[in-house]
Amino acid sequence: MYRQEASATLPQVHPRAPILDVKGVSLRFGGVRALSDVLLHVDQDELVAVIGPNGAGKTSLLNSLAGFYHPQDGDITLFGNSILGMAPHRIAKAGMARTFQGIHVLSTLSVIENIMLGCGFNARGTLAKSFLYHLFGSREEVALRAKAEEIADFLDLGLVRHQPVETLGYGLRKRVDLGRALALEPKILLVDEPMAGMNGEEKEDLARFLVDIRELWKIPIVMVEHDMSVVMDLADRIYVLNFGQVLASGTPAEIQTNQDVINAYLGGSYTAGGAA
Ligand SMILES: Nc1ncnc2c1ncn2[C@@H]1O[C@H](COP(=O)(O)OP(=O)(O)OP(=O)(O)O)[C@@H](O)[C@H]1O
Ligand SMILES: [Mg+2]
Repeated sequence: MYRQEASATLPQVHPRAPILDVKGVSLRFGGVRALSDVLLHVDQDELVAVIGPNGAGKTSLLNSLAGFYHPQDGDITLFGNSILGMAPHRIAKAGMARTFQGIHVLSTLSVIENIMLGCGFNARGTLAKSFLYHLFGSREEVALRAKAEEIADFLDLGLVRHQPVETLGYGLRKRVDLGRALALEPKILLVDEPMAGMNGEEKEDLARFLVDIRELWKIPIVMVEHDMSVVMDLADRIYVLNFGQVLASGTPAEIQTNQDVINAYLGGSYTAGGAA
């Protein structure tokens, strides 16, 4: 089976540590401070939302967690072990999967092939098909395909499983990207603006899948999202980033009534009980 072996990368597990712990992380790009002393943690079974204005540092934070950016200060631990400075493929192998802001699928490959590529960290463009064959061979490919079929069914992609992704609408393509992340069998999932560009029905579907991923599959989720109805409905706790700093954190009820958050971000666009 292709199940990821986190123990190969992170030998010790500290049972009382949060699953993910961000300890005073700062990230600079030249003179731009993208993140300043960010503190954040995620416990088992939590869906934690990260919100804030454009340019607040939300994607930079996810990129830092996933090893795409390397913060200059602070530490990030996964199951109590530092992952700071580790390469993205090693962090993925340790159990952290992510979806990207925008579309991140190989459009000429089928739904199933894209989901299978969730385990192929280095797959590229037209080489992807031969890559799949050489990487997984026959027995592994059968097991991987079965898992991909299971994920496609879970995400209601069964009817389009053999269609090239380029023939699908935006919402379904985003769902394929989620399937690709789930193919890693992650222990924590990061999603960057999963609802962006979706219509109401697609958002409802995706919200249901995220709830199921957390509740049935027991995978905690960090979600960056601008749609406040979705955030307030789904999140157990929320962190608000502003100019790279954590402006506030708390339950949806606490965040909705926090005057600093209302001034910096929510304004009149969201009031308790529904989005305007
Ligand atoms: N690779 C990079 N090189 C230089 N500056 C960067 C890089 N990535 C992010 N930044 C800067 O860091 C800051 C935070 O950007 P980031 O993309 O993290 O914001 P965001 O909260 O995700 O915004 P949005 O809601 O628009 O997606 C911005 O000033 C951005 O220009
Ligand atoms: Mg972003």
